[in-house]
Amino acid sequence: MLQLGELKAGERMFDLGSGDGRIVIMAAEKFRAQATGVEWDKDLHKQSMDKIASLKLDKSARIINGDILKQDYTSADLVTVYLLPTSNDKIRPLLEKQLKKGTRIVSHDFEFRDWKADKVEVIDDDGEGRSHTLYLYRR
Ligand SMILES: C[S@@+](CC[C@H](N)C(=O)[O-])C[C@H]1O[C@@H](n2cnc3c(N)ncnc32)[C@H](O)[C@@H]1O
Repeated sequence: MLQLGELKAGERMFDLGSGDGRIVIMAAEKFRAQATGVEWDKDLHKQSMDKIASLKLDKSARIINGDILKQDYTSADLVTVYLLPTSNDKIRPLLEKQLKKGTRIVSHDFEFRDWKADKVEVIDDDGEGRSHTLYLYRR
């Protein structure tokens, strides 16, 4: 997702519904980006913040413990999502309102209705026998 979204060092990325924080951590550690996750589950928030602290990534990675529908994404260069279609439907108007022109959005497995993907990448086997589809959009 980060490669398809062409994340560059110093750019700001947001993972909406960041789970255990793996994408945020990879964005900060391997891509040298300023990475923010948003996660409403308190345990996942704590787990991911603990991992960030243990890797000493505090300056470039953080997780907001809150609802993805109540955040400010105006500074984003890249947004990543792995959410159900109903959640994509809910977040879409907020992204349309807030994201600056040129911001990239990469969605895992589920398309954004009414948006036309710039690129679709299919990963047939992730090494564990599962296939994935990634959708790249540009505002
Ligand atoms: C499928 S997981 C994806 C985790 C991570 N982004 C990844 O790709 O590995 C979706 C996550 O979104 C979180 N989530 C769903 N709706 C949310 C909301 N409205 N606000 C914050 N987090 C939400 C869930 O708690 C879950 O951890």
